Amino acid sequence: MGEKTEIIICLGSSCFARGNKKTVQAIESYLNEHNLKGRVYFHGGHCFGNCDSGPILKVNDRFYERVDSFNVIDILAKELDD
Ligand code: FES
Repeated sequence: MGEKTEIIICLGSSCFARGNKKTVQAIESYLNEHNLKGRVYFHGGHCFGNCDSGPILKVNDRFYERVDSFNVIDILAKELDD
């Protein structure tokens, strides 16, 4: 308890060009709808150096690859389920 979940979305040019802008919106909506904003530190990051497998999302110490605005919902549900 008490520790916030850190979610970093890659906003490097490759991931951004492949749809992370939409994924940002999907995450914002999810956090709002589920009242999770107080539990999550969500912010953008620079290129993680793994563009080939992007778009990349990092949740605490875990990296997710090929994230889009649809499969990110499953990731959030799994990571933030309490
Ligand atoms: S731009 Fe996202 S890993 Fe490089």
